[in-house]
Amino acid sequence: MDTTMLCHLDAVPDGGARVIDRDPGVIVVRRGQQVWAYINRCPHFSIPLDFEPGTICTYDAEVLMCAHHSALFRFTDGVCIDGPCRDAALSPLAVQVIEGRVCLC
Ligand code: FES
Repeated sequence: MDTTMLCHLDAVPDGGARVIDRDPGVIVVRRGQQVWAYINRCPHFSIPLDFEPGTICTYDAEVLMCAHHSALFRFTDGVCIDGPCRDAALSPLAVQVIEGRVCLC
């Protein structure tokens, strides 16, 4: 099993997001001990969601927002619930927390 480490869990703000600079870029979002990861590519224009590199706005530990045209994506499944690409989804990556590290699995 591939357990490539993306980051430490503590490096992801609880209720927030962290951009992982790799190819392709990854966004990790966190709610408590739960994490989800998505390719950092907005389904609207196929560009990274962060305009200012590394900065992703999140709300209520529920949604993250694309900086370009404000599409809102659910933490839990990456589906766009509001904005120009409504019902489209971010591309998910399977991750798990192993000994305090967020790893691809
Ligand atoms: S590029 Fe993300 S909402 Fe337009």
